[in-house]
Amino acid sequence: MSPEHTVPSRIETERLVLRRWEPEKDVDSYHALLVTSAEHLRPWMPWARDEPLTRAEHLDWLRQCVRWAAEGTKGYLAMHSRDDGRLLGSVGLHPAREVEIREIGYWLAPQHQGRGYVTEAVEALTRVAFEDPRVRRVEILTMPENAAAIAVARRAGFRHRGITHDTHAEVPMDLWILEA
Ligand SMILES: CC(C)(COP(=O)(O)OP(=O)(O)OC[C@H]1O[C@@H](n2cnc3c(N)ncnc32)[C@H](O)[C@@H]1OP(=O)(O)O)[C@@H](O)C(=O)NCCC(=O)NCCS
Repeated sequence: MSPEHTVPSRIETERLVLRRWEPEKDVDSYHALLVTSAEHLRPWMPWARDEPLTRAEHLDWLRQCVRWAAEGTKGYLAMHSRDDGRLLGSVGLHPAREVEIREIGYWLAPQHQGRGYVTEAVEALTRVAFEDPRVRRVEILTMPENAAAIAVARRAGFRHRGITHDTHAEVPMDLWILEA
């Protein structure tokens, strides 16, 4: 399978469109969403400490996401509402340390919490991950006190596998897994 097939380009669910970033088209909505979401994300996403970055920096980031998707190394996707096309947040379906593992990540703007959007996205990403016959396991990493993120993993059927230090984060993370 070629690398570009590791990362999906578009997934539609009942209420969502998950698709690869289109930097020039998406940068204004991405920048605006980060400006209003930075404080909400900061405790849980190490990269958000430096947010909100400038519009130009966000454009660079989205272009980097496109390059990673083409290489098949990282699978960051925009999460839009199917209803009105609004950007809600972002998810990722990433290749992990072994070919049979994929990792899912997610964040949502605070005003869109509480409606099950991310659970719906994670369920769809999990289905897509297992369509690749090589994939045996999907993982989610959460910070131990991140109750909202843990609830998403549980609702999507993941089980707690333990604590791992084997990440880029500075703190031990809870590892949640779903096996094929
Ligand atoms: C983690 C995060 C994405 C969770 O957002 P969320 O809105 O709680 O998650 P969902 O979109 O799946 O919505 C679930 C909520 O909607 C409710 N809900 C309503 N309709 C629903 C439906 N059809 N299906 C599932 N849940 C539904 C659930 O009961 C739940 O509400 P509750 O928390 O009051 O019990 C969000 O808090 C966030 O972005 N946090 C900061 C970044 C972060 O921590 N990312 C994860 C790093 S590992």
